[in-house]
Amino acid sequence: MISTYSLLLLLIATSSLAFSAEAALATGYYDSTCPQVEKIVKAGVANAAQSDSRLPASLLRLHFHDCFVQGCDASVLLDDTPTFKGEKTAGPNNNSIRGFEAIDAIKSSLESSCKGVVSCADILALAARDSVVLSGGPSWEVPLGRRDSITASFSGATNRLPSFFSDVNGLIKSFTDVGLTAEDMFTLSGGHSIGQARCLAFVSRIFNDSGSGSPDPSIRPSFLSALQSKCPQTGSLSSLQPLDATTINKFDNQYYLNLVLGKGLLHSDQVLFNTVGVARNFVKAYSADQSKFFSNFAGSMIKMGKLSPLLAPKGIIRSNCRVPR
Ligand code: HEM
Repeated sequence: MISTYSLLLLLIATSSLAFSAEAALATGYYDSTCPQVEKIVKAGVANAAQSDSRLPASLLRLHFHDCFVQGCDASVLLDDTPTFKGEKTAGPNNNSIRGFEAIDAIKSSLESSCKGVVSCADILALAARDSVVLSGGPSWEVPLGRRDSITASFSGATNRLPSFFSDVNGLIKSFTDVGLTAEDMFTLSGGHSIGQARCLAFVSRIFNDSGSGSPDPSIRPSFLSALQSKCPQTGSLSSLQPLDATTINKFDNQYYLNLVLGKGLLHSDQVLFNTVGVARNFVKAYSADQSKFFSNFAGSMIKMGKLSPLLAPKGIIRSNCRVPR
């Protein structure tokens, strides 16, 4: 006869299996239902990048902003309506996240080929990987099988996404709060190897750092004067500057080398090198070893892509990524 104790053990074992994302997300998830999925997403990303060289960066960021807010469930893609408040107008996203038309185009190709099968959340995960590869970065197999939410969280998007004003501990906390580690933060920050930021994200540090009346002294003088001329105090705060001015649009380890040289664009970038300790050690290691950065980046992206996915029977497959049905 099975004892109460062994029954309890069995229960714990089966329930932890049932709730393990690892058990359900799988690389061959659409092999029988939509074998062309990877080809279609890749072509969609390449096509969109042809008319907009910033697009790969924007798609990489979309997946990050999706996963950090109620998990990788495509909540970030939902449009506001008079009766539904999505995440698009939350502080970190407002007038900033982009790439929605490219996702729409990919979704409509997928709906033509395999109607009602591929989730918007999986499109975001694949598009992020394809964007990195297209920009010269590492590749990885993307575990698939996420489903889409019918909800979004404005407050989550406001509070969960890391701030460019944060110091290292604040940045680490944003990552550990969602189940990632400090090392994931040091590594995924390397996403800033591509893409752009508005002047408003760094204007205070080039003129009046933390209210001191002076620029952040850790900014290299030549870089500082270039930034001050491109983002004058009286100019438009929506003007853009590359996050990695040395190899714009190329995914490489130059971002980390820039930090060593005092050429980080955002406060949240430069603090990784300025703060003595583990963060600085990672910056130094990655600046000297691109392949280490690449393999860790791929690993951390896979981890980020597994944050609280909606697994069948939860969630839905949206037919339009902007609408929760
Ligand atoms: C560590 C904390 C992070 C902070 C504080 C942060 C903050 C920012 C800010 C302020 C911008 C510019 C937004 C604008 O001015 O419109 C930006 C852009 C970007 N971020 Fe991050 N980010 C972080 C982590 C990440 C991660 C983990 C990734 C991806 C793995 C990422 C990928 C990007 C990309 C690619 C862009 C450029 C997007 C474009 O050009 O459209 N960031 N980030």
